[in-house]
Amino acid sequence: MKNTIITILEQKKKKDKITMLTAYDYSMAKLMDEAGVNAILVGDSLGMVMLGYEDTLSVTMEDMIHHTAAVERGTANAFVVADMPFMSYQTSVYDAVYNAGRLMKEGHANAVKLEGGASVCPQIKAIVEASIPVVGHLGLTPQSINALGGFIVQGKSEEEAEKLIEAAKAIEEAGAFAIVLECVPAKLAALISESIHIPTIGIGAGAGCDGQVLVYQDMLAMFSGFKPKFVKCFADVGRMMKDAFKQYIEETKASIFPGEEHAYKMDDDVLEKLSRRMKEGEEA
Ligand code: KIV
Repeated sequence: MKNTIITILEQKKKKDKITMLTAYDYSMAKLMDEAGVNAILVGDSLGMVMLGYEDTLSVTMEDMIHHTAAVERGTANAFVVADMPFMSYQTSVYDAVYNAGRLMKEGHANAVKLEGGASVCPQIKAIVEASIPVVGHLGLTPQSINALGGFIVQGKSEEEAEKLIEAAKAIEEAGAFAIVLECVPAKLAALISESIHIPTIGIGAGAGCDGQVLVYQDMLAMFSGFKPKFVKCFADVGRMMKDAFKQYIEETKASIFPGEEHAYKMDDDVLEKLSRRMKEGEEA
C-alpha cells in the first residue's frame, strides 16, 4: 500500500510505529521499498556518507534533486521526503517555497524536510500553503553545527527542553505534518511526542517517539567515520562488502574469475575459420 501523509498521520493515532530510513540512490531505495519501510528520507547526510564532506553544509539543491529523483524511481510504496539543503530556505520565504517546489517538480519528492524552530515557521507555513507537505527537524540540527558547537545532545537543561517543546508546538501550528527529533533525551522526546498531534520521528531520541529514522550506512556498518551512541548495527554489511571485494581481487588475479559459466560461447567452426584466416594473413 502506498504510504501517504494520511497513512503516516494515522499511524500515530493507531500507535503503529513509523519506519523511515535514509537512501540516496535507486537500488538502495528499491530494496528498502520492497522490505516495506514506510518512508525514505533523502537526507542531506548524503554530503557526508555519499560525497565525503565533513558536514552537510556543502550540499546543493542540484545534489538533492539528483539523488531524490533516483530514490523516487526506486520506490513504489514508500513516502519520499527530501531534505532542503543549507541556505535553500533560511534566506527568505520566497527561496523556501521556490526550492521546495524544485524538490517536488524535479526530484518528485512527496514532502520536504527543513531544520529549525520558530525562525523557520514562516517558511513552513508558506511551503504548506503551496500544497507541499513539510517535515520539521528539531534538536541536533546538523546544518547549525557551527552555531551549536558540535554534534552535541540537545535539550538537557530545563530552559533548552522548554524551548524544544515550544518549537515543536510552533512547527505543528505552522502546518508541518511530522517532526524529526535528533539527539534529544529520550524522556524529553516522549514528552514532546505526547504534547503534539503530529508524529515525531526520532534519531537518537529514544523509543517514545512515534517512529524512527536511521542513516542506512550507520545501521549497516558501511561508514567508518564517527559512530554515535544511538546507532544499532543491524547487519555488518560493510564487512561483507569488503570481504567480497577482497575475494574478487584474489579470484581475478588467480584467474578463477571469470569461470566458464560467466563467459559467452561461440561456434567452434566460426573460431576455426577465423584462426585459419588470421594465419593466412600472417603468412602473406
Ligand atoms: O540528513 C539526514 O540524514 C537527516 C537524518 C539524520 C534525520 O536529517
